[in-house]
Amino acid sequence: MAKLAIIYGSGTGNTAEMAAAVDDGARSEGLETEALLLGNLTEDVPDGRSTTSVNDALAIMDSADAVAIGSSTYEMKPVVFVGQLLEKAGSLDLSGKVGTAFGPYATRPKAVGIIIDAMKGWGMDVVEPGLQVSGAITGKIRQESRELGESIARALSEKS
Ligand SMILES: Cc1cc2nc3c(=O)[nH]c(=O)nc-3n(C[C@H](O)[C@H](O)[C@H](O)COP(=O)(O)O)c2cc1C
Repeated sequence: MAKLAIIYGSGTGNTAEMAAAVDDGARSEGLETEALLLGNLTEDVPDGRSTTSVNDALAIMDSADAVAIGSSTYEMKPVVFVGQLLEKAGSLDLSGKVGTAFGPYATRPKAVGIIIDAMKGWGMDVVEPGLQVSGAITGKIRQESRELGESIARALSEKS
């Protein structure tokens, strides 16, 4: 079964909600998924959640067939751990893997474009334009996030 790694950073939980819906959509199309919230360490955190260090996330990214990276925009940039991931991921061979990006913003979106450009630089097959949404996470946004997960599955099946 093809595997999708969903790797994201989230300050107040909006990107996390999108990640959960991307995950649902991808699994509904038969993909195996692993969703990782980036943090300082790979450890359990309150509310039954866990975080994954950037280095451990890189290893999972390396082993996956497709990668969806999620980040909100903070100060015109991706959140800090996603920034670190982008800096280090260039050392992996990601060419030919399917990639996309998603994330919320308020008024000045930047993160999704930065992630998509990085993925193109690594030679990934990018599902464009990814998904960039403003404001609270509504049912419509959850549906669009699910559809992004489904489109990753389609992009993978077109390659095989
Ligand atoms: C300190 C701070 C800086 C922000 N900078 C930007 C920005 O440059 N552009 C933008 O569109 N939104 C900006 N936002 C809004 C966030 O991107 C938005 O609230 C997003 O939904 C947060 O998602 P998260 O809960 O996954 O972190 C900023 C928010 C905060 C708190």
